[in-house]
Amino acid sequence: MEVHPALLLFLLSCLATTSYAHNVHLSALNQSLIVSTTTAPNKVLKIGLDQVTITWSYNDTLPRSADTNYTTVEVKLCYAPVSQSGRDDRKTDDSLDNDKTCPFDITDEPYKRSNNSYVWTIPSDIPTATYFVRVYVINAKNHEIAYGQSTNSVKASNLFQIEGVADDQVQASASQPMLGSFFGYGVNDTTSLTLCLRDQGLALVNPWSSGFCNQEKCMKYVSTGYGVTFSSLQRSLVVTASTTNNQVLKAGEDNITVTWGLNQTFPAGTDSAYKTVKVKLCYAPISQKDRSWRKTVDEMKKDKTCQHKIVSRPYSASNNSFSWTILRDVPSATYFVRAYAFNADGHEVAFGQSTNAQKATNLIEVQAITGRHVSLDIASVCFSAFSVVALAGFFYMEKSKGKASK
Ligand SMILES: *[C@@H]1O[C@H](CO)[C@@H](O)[C@H](O)[C@H]1NC(C)=O
Ligand SMILES: *[C@@H]1O[C@H](CO)[C@@H](O)[C@H](O)[C@H]1NC(C)=O
Ligand SMILES: *[C@@H]1O[C@H](CO)[C@@H](O)[C@H](O)[C@H]1NC(C)=O
Ligand SMILES: *[C@@H]1O[C@H](CO)[C@@H](O)[C@H](O)[C@H]1NC(C)=O
Ligand SMILES: *[C@@H]1O[C@H](CO)[C@@H](O)[C@H](O)[C@H]1NC(C)=O
Ligand SMILES: *[C@@H]1O[C@H](CO)[C@@H](O)[C@H](O)[C@H]1NC(C)=O
Ligand SMILES: *[C@@H]1O[C@H](CO)[C@@H](O)[C@H](O)[C@H]1NC(C)=O
Ligand SMILES: *[C@@H]1O[C@H](CO)[C@@H](O)[C@H](O)[C@H]1NC(C)=O
Repeated sequence: MEVHPALLLFLLSCLATTSYAHNVHLSALNQSLIVSTTTAPNKVLKIGLDQVTITWSYNDTLPRSADTNYTTVEVKLCYAPVSQSGRDDRKTDDSLDNDKTCPFDITDEPYKRSNNSYVWTIPSDIPTATYFVRVYVINAKNHEIAYGQSTNSVKASNLFQIEGVADDQVQASASQPMLGSFFGYGVNDTTSLTLCLRDQGLALVNPWSSGFCNQEKCMKYVSTGYGVTFSSLQRSLVVTASTTNNQVLKAGEDNITVTWGLNQTFPAGTDSAYKTVKVKLCYAPISQKDRSWRKTVDEMKKDKTCQHKIVSRPYSASNNSFSWTILRDVPSATYFVRAYAFNADGHEVAFGQSTNAQKATNLIEVQAITGRHVSLDIASVCFSAFSVVALAGFFYMEKSKGKASK
């Protein structure tokens, strides 16, 4: 049977569109960052106590101009192959949308060419496994454009082991305060302590020697190693979203333009500690009802209000704007937009939101498309069109055969 060239062309274009619809692939990124980690030698690291120092810089043997579009970096903790085997939930996939190698965010930082360093205290909810660190470079459109990692390309060198929670404990520890960990492993997070002290109107020079840690309130801060609470954050950012109240937006199609900046009525210097801003899409109370997995919790680490990241940017007091096409994996619900400012330690210090304190005004309604993947949609449209064309083709062939045999 001969295939009509037009049909062949159509099929080929179907396949091309289908694969184009995938997002960023790791293999397409330049490995332009040099990343290293230092940990205590030959030591199995303990959660809540031990630290990893991560340093990164641009590989200076590459062209100097190639990093002009680098905006932010995302530092992540990643599973080494030995801890991935037999685990679909940790599987590596070249398409970053589907990749499950690096599930833990360490920090987001503005891009700098050199002298970057971050000291990370391993949080209390990291599972026991072998890891490395990967740093992704993000551009202004919020896409990964380059990366670097602390291990070689086969992910076999410079790995480190963390003795953390057993898998079945991961869920439990996320929902319960780990009071025991302070006395057990000991959590030493000076920033949390300072915040706690400030909140209680205390100003002790050395919190550790003063015995204040026996106070229940501060235990809560210390026990998680982070302890920042939403109620302790200053509402010093002004955030607006380009939507009218209860406007219905379609996931995968419509855009939200978010602008943010410092509320100018705050005194100069209010923002001196602000380093990065993360903008997120958050569930409004009406869409949280009876859904514990979206619950608002005052302790930031446990809060599940804002699950969809929009963008993260170095902090700037004004003229910030980002136009975001709502991702297709955003479920149908009612939302608002919130921005958090982070300090150099990676802790939230301020926020702003596109709604009032009761989260009742200027809400955004998102209507999800069915849970299918973009490429699947394109493929199914292509192939249904193909089947119609093929049917017509065969019908025509049969007819002409019938004529010829007459
Ligand atoms: C990788 O770097 C080269 C220059 O070294 C540049 O021309 C190219 O666009 C970069 N690729 C990506 C995906 O950024
Ligand atoms: C820096 O880039 C060059 C050229 O791509 C490469 O040969 C070299 O291994 C890189 N250096 C490091 C430390 O990754
Ligand atoms: C930076 O982005 C602009 C606009 O998207 C593009 O034209 C330019 O080639 C990019 N530069 C590099 C070095 O990738
Ligand atoms: C990086 O640090 C070194 C040594 O501390 C210093 O000499 C150099 O100027 C720094 N570079 C940048 C770009 O800050
Ligand atoms: C906690 O850290 C501070 C400053 O790094 C140190 O002085 C103190 O001894 C530590 N305390 C404990 C209980 O480890
Ligand atoms: C949303 O933004 C994208 C990219 O910025 C643009 O191509 C598209 O036309 C916008 N869609 C709408 C509905 O404004
Ligand atoms: C800015 O802050 C002041 C004082 O907290 C507040 O009254 C005002 O509503 C804020 N402005 C905006 C636009 O949020
Ligand atoms: C913000 O934009 C306005 C108008 O475009 C400009 O006059 C002002 O200098 C900008 N401010 C900053 C801090 O970039």
